[in-house]
This record gives sequence, C-alpha cells and structure tokens, in this order.
Amino acid sequence: MSSPPFDFDYLRGLVQQQSAVVLGADKKYLADLHLGAVAERAGFSSIAALVEQLKRTPLGALHIQAVEAMLTNETSFFRDHYPFEALKNVVLPHLIQQRQKERSLVIWCAGCSYGQEPYSVAILIQEHFPELTNWNLKIVASDVSGKALSRLKQGCYSQLEVNRGLSPTLRDKYFYKQQETWQISDTLRQMVTVQQLNLIHEWKALPIVDIIFLRNVLIYFDTETKTSILRKTYQHLRLDGYLFLGGGETTLNIDDKFESIRIDKSICHRPRSA
Ligand SMILES: C[S@@+](CC[C@H](N)C(=O)[O-])C[C@H]1O[C@@H](n2cnc3c(N)ncnc32)[C@H](O)[C@@H]1O
Repeated sequence: MSSPPFDFDYLRGLVQQQSAVVLGADKKYLADLHLGAVAERAGFSSIAALVEQLKRTPLGALHIQAVEAMLTNETSFFRDHYPFEALKNVVLPHLIQQRQKERSLVIWCAGCSYGQEPYSVAILIQEHFPELTNWNLKIVASDVSGKALSRLKQGCYSQLEVNRGLSPTLRDKYFYKQQETWQISDTLRQMVTVQQLNLIHEWKALPIVDIIFLRNVLIYFDTETKTSILRKTYQHLRLDGYLFLGGGETTLNIDDKFESIRIDKSICHRPRSA
C-alpha cells in the first residue's frame, strides 16, 4: 500500500510504551512493510490515515494490532543449535538428577514468538528424555503478542518454516502435512502451556522456574529495561537453574547476580550463590 508521509515518531513512541521495544529512526521500513495490511483490514486508505486515527483515539485494539505488526518475530526451530545441545547434554541431565524426589520441572520460553522455540524444547524432551513426560513437566511459552501466540496455538507452519532447523525425520515424526502447511502433533501441543505476558509488567502469574529461555528479546530493549527484566528473571529462577540468552546478549555490566558459564559451544547464565 502506498501512503503519504506519516508520523513514524508517534508509532515508535507507541511501540516503546506498549512493549519497551526501542525502534531507531532507521526502522521506518517496519511500518512501511507491515502496517499497510493493518490499515487495509481496518478500512483505511493509507498508513497515514491509520496513524492519524491512532493519534486521535484512546489506546485500543487497533493500537495493539499496529504495535504487534511492528515487533520482530524472527525465530526458527532449534535456533542456533548449541543452546539445545547444552540443554540435552548438561542442563537437563543435571536438573533431572537434582529433582529426582519432587519429579517436577518448569521450563519457560519468554518472548517465544510463533512457538518454534518451545516446540523445539518439547521435541528434544520427547527424543532424549521421554521419562520426563511422566513427571510434572511444564513448558510455559509466553509473548506479549497475541498474534504470535495464536499462531503458536494453531501450530501450523509453512514449508519454509519447517525447513529451518528441523530434519525431515523430526518433521515427519512430529508434524503432519495439511495441504501446503505442516501441522504440529497433539502430543507436542499438549506439552506447551501458553500465556500472554508482557515482560515489562508484573510476572505474578508465573511460577518459579528451573530453566528460562529469554533469547533474542533483550536486544530490543534499552539498558534500564534490560536491568529490570534481568532482576525479575533472577527472582523467578531457582538458584540451581539456568538462563539462556541469545547469542548477542549478555548479563555482563547489566546484572551481577548471574555468572556466565560455557557449556561446550554455548554460553549459559546461572544465579550466583549468595
Ligand atoms: C526475535 S523474537 C525471539 C523469538 C525466540 N525467543 C527466538 O529466539 O527465536 C522476539 C520476541 O519478543 C517478543 N517481545 C517483544 N517485546 C516483548 C515484551 N515486552 N514482552 C514479551 N515479549 C516481547 C516479540 O513479540 C517477539 O515475538
């Protein structure tokens, strides 16, 4: 959709207010790319007309749609490979040993986008730790974006999406083809609990967890927001738990309550003992 010039500063202010995601002035292309569809669906002739309406009206569903359309949802199955190797070879064997008595384990994927990350964890457990399915095992998948979570719940992925990170063997074992798309099996779907959660709000509904995947989310925030989120992360992670961040993310110089440890080719973060 071609559009007269529009107030991108207003849009990035809205995105930051609602999600804490900081969009530089160079990110206008995100609006050009994604807001045309939002404008069209809502009956506006251009992005500019949509933005003027957003500016005139109190915060509502249309504002949320615009914000969600501008968030980056890039993800893939077994993204970056090595964190999942660390999970398989070190983290889960260690925690399974530690939790033998309580037989309970909670894994949280925060900012999980369309679900490839939590479903990768579920596949890894089915493949390598099937005994855990008889435990009180919870894989919590959360995101601020209702749009992303509804795709996760549908569990329906394009050919391109399943090609990214899944071997044909795993694909055929855990997905079935429906016309041009791949539908996730009920076994995997039932292993994942979906929760809409904005990381900048309180995390009251969230239990204390054993493993947190918070990957490729902090990079979008300013330092103050990162600090506040890492403080809450520390409070929600068991003292012998593990935190995975994205490859370009660190707790260094942001929060000294974590120590970084190397597990083979992956870096993982653990609460420092007091
Ligand atoms: C690039 S994706 C990362 C997906 C996955 N963790 C991975 O590494 O493949 C970033 C996700 O963070 C979510 N996000 C952005 N701001 C958020 C916030 N304030 N609270 C929760 N999720 C947020 C976005 O909706 C998006 O789905």
